Amino acid sequence: MNLIKKILVAQATALFVLAGTAAHAAVDEEVAARLKPVGDVCIEGQECAAATAAVAEAGDSAGETAAAAGRSGEQIVTQSCGVCHGTGLLEAPLTGDADAWAERFEAGGGMDGLLAVAKGGKGAMPPMGTCGDCTDDELVSAIKFMSGL
Ligand code: HEC
Repeated sequence: MNLIKKILVAQATALFVLAGTAAHAAVDEEVAARLKPVGDVCIEGQECAAATAAVAEAGDSAGETAAAAGRSGEQIVTQSCGVCHGTGLLEAPLTGDADAWAERFEAGGGMDGLLAVAKGGKGAMPPMGTCGDCTDDELVSAIKFMSGL
């Protein structure tokens, strides 16, 4: 490395260090400000913080209630199964057709068997009956609602 290059490098380094220390605190603050969660604006004002907490709490308890109680069979059927099982589309056993369901119950190994088919699908019956987020309990409730079993 020749002398001029060395000087240039030294200057650049000095500049970098100087600029770095001077700007560092400011940059840190800026970065912190940018990384702040949006809700942080609220934390400065009590009212807003309380409102945020209340909303979070309401959300939590709503989630817990849904998770604990699950959706009813009727809700699941209305939402996911009824399009076929309410109309007999694709020859799906009809809601309320107890005989058709009893036959399948016998042939399919009882409620466990029906649940297994509901989860895995069968022929034109789609896996999970299109209710991707249904729990086993919810699927069983839906099957019971449709079959009367
Ligand atoms: C796209 C139409 C469609 C939707 C949506 C649908 N099913 Fe089905 N389902 C069918 C058809 C068709 C059959 C008959 C399948 C066969 O026997 O080949 C069937 C059969 C079944 C059976 C009987 C299985 C057996 O062993 O005979 C169960 C249980 C069942 N569905 C549950 C559900 C549940 C629960 C939902 C909603 C979460 C649902 N289905 C949504 C079309 C559908």
